[in-house]
Amino acid sequence: MQILQTFSVCALVGSLALACGKDYLSKAELMDPETCKDCHPKHFEEWQSSMHAYAGDDPIFLAMNRRGQRETNGALGDFCVQCHAPMAVREGATTDGLNLEELPQYLKGVTCYFCHTVKEVTGTHNNPLVLANDNAMRGGIADAVENGVHKTKYSPLHDRDSAESSSLCGSCHDIVTDNLHLERTFAEYQGSIFVEPPFDQSCSNCHMNGSDDVVADFEGVKSRKRHSHAFPGVDLAIIEWPGITEQRALIEEELRTTVQSRLCYNPATNSMDLNLTNVAGGHMFPSGATQDRQAWVEFVATVGDAEVVTSGVFADEDPVSAENDPLLWQMKDFGFNAAGESEHMFWDITRVESELLPPSVTFDMTDPAYDHSKTRSYPMGANPRPDEVDVVVRIRAVGRELIDDLIASGDLDERFRFSIETTNLEGSRLHWTPEAAGSDLCVP
Ligand code: HEC
Ligand code: HEC
Ligand code: HEC
Ligand code: HEC
Ligand code: HEC
Repeated sequence: MQILQTFSVCALVGSLALACGKDYLSKAELMDPETCKDCHPKHFEEWQSSMHAYAGDDPIFLAMNRRGQRETNGALGDFCVQCHAPMAVREGATTDGLNLEELPQYLKGVTCYFCHTVKEVTGTHNNPLVLANDNAMRGGIADAVENGVHKTKYSPLHDRDSAESSSLCGSCHDIVTDNLHLERTFAEYQGSIFVEPPFDQSCSNCHMNGSDDVVADFEGVKSRKRHSHAFPGVDLAIIEWPGITEQRALIEEELRTTVQSRLCYNPATNSMDLNLTNVAGGHMFPSGATQDRQAWVEFVATVGDAEVVTSGVFADEDPVSAENDPLLWQMKDFGFNAAGESEHMFWDITRVESELLPPSVTFDMTDPAYDHSKTRSYPMGANPRPDEVDVVVRIRAVGRELIDDLIASGDLDERFRFSIETTNLEGSRLHWTPEAAGSDLCVP
């Protein structure tokens, strides 16, 4: 029996040019995601299209890191690259990320090996993950079929049904700079109702959908839950990259139902009151790189054929700016430097003014925090009650002013000026008319 099994392993993985039986692959081979492709083709394909694979190739990342190194005279060190190409740092292939373009692909991005060999999490931010550096791939499966190329190990840090698993994701999705707690996805999540029963939703419960499937193309495996590795969020590759079309569709799908909206006419103030609730996010909306994000409300009120009050109407290629738009409702972190000026550069931001939609924090309906929605009024001024109002929340991964700034400093190529797409949160779209509104004058 033992001989038979060894034989089939040899036959199956012959193309990988490895020894048979229990001579597992070397660390060098396991570090390369290409090695996983033969047996885990779907995991590979999804991961390859994800921002995790892209993190060390992202031109905006490379440009910002370059600029940061220059402006801080190298004091930034491996601060950025420790998360965007963690294996390159751990393998000593880079100290500042400036040579990423010369490094082999398998050292860039958040790779299979990086996530699957984590053995310990020693903090809450700035990637405090400790790697075992052995040949055991850790996951949520306790009875994995022996495969001959890598050991397997059940790990609660990798099991989405275990609360601990959120610390693996969260401690990399939370950034504390010398100046402030800049990106706070993990902290926001920890304050939400999703961390406790009855919800008990880990990061991966929401971000890695499971479907019944085999998890390896390998003899003897049975169907179990295979978890998606596409990790859609907001961001999409701006260079030629595998799976862009699929990622775009997943992003639209994920964002569709994130924010719930309600729009009411208030006769007492002659205004339209818009109420937004973050219903699906386990953290703020938006979250993470909110100093770069651009999320806002597009609002158009019409009387007859005339658009009487508009806000947030920007063409996809235009910057989003409140300059001529006092009603503009933006959801983001506004960054400021030590001199109190508006600031986009990570390392110079010393303070943020945060305008985000919070997640649900309590089940207690009598607690004032139960209603975690936010409301803004759009006054109709001298105009009569509108005949029609259209509203939708829109989002862009990176604002135009940051792109323009990086192009102006020579760190980013001009061809990326209009590269960031704008996505509509279709589930937030409302069309208000007096007929559609209920007796409370609200839709829905
Ligand atoms: C020769 C085929 C083969 C190759 C190559 C391979 N694996 Fe596996 N892997 C398997 C099999 C078989 C299983 C067990 C599946 C089962 O029991 O359903 C498995 C299981 C796993 C698990 C789950 C472990 C657990 O206990 O939860 C992870 C994680 C994993 N592999 C990651 C990787 C990574 C990362 C690579 C590339 C470095 C890789 N594998 C390469 C065949 C392979
Ligand atoms: C080594 C650090 C690291 C770990 C661990 C990590 N991530 Fe990420 N993640 C990143 C980086 C870096 C990016 C963004 C790369 C980019 O856009 O340039 C990212 C992107 C994402 C995105 C897409 C965000 C967007 O706006 O498009 C999601 C969703 C995500 N991660 C979820 C997770 C989850 C869930 C886990 C745990 C299973 C996890 N991450 C573990 C570093 C990490
Ligand atoms: C950001 C971290 C992260 C990266 C990068 C990552 N994985 Fe995973 N992977 C996970 C987590 C978390 C699970 C466990 C989900 C569960 O069981 O709850 C998992 C599960 C798995 C499993 C077990 C079967 C399943 O679907 O649950 C396999 C096999 C696997 N990953 C292979 C890979 C391969 C191959 C790559 C690279 C091409 C990769 N992973 C990249 C976090 C990651
Ligand atoms: C209850 C479900 C849920 C949980 C739990 C959850 N998320 Fe999310 N996450 C979402 C949804 C929905 C979105 C899309 C809306 C948005 O961008 O906020 C999202 C978006 C994101 C994004 C992109 C954010 C942006 O605006 O750029 C990242 C990164 C992310 N999640 C990471 C995490 C991490 C890390 C954890 C755990 C600490 C986590 N999520 C927990 C549902 C969840
Ligand atoms: C602790 C890990 C960590 C560190 C340190 C880090 N990043 Fe990131 N970075 C992330 C994660 C996670 C995301 C995805 C954020 C999200 O979608 O919410 C990201 C996203 C990005 C993006 C994608 C586009 C955008 O703005 O959303 C850029 C560019 C970027 N980071 C640049 C940098 C630079 C430059 C530095 C250093 C000054 C840096 N990062 C430091 C984890 C990190």
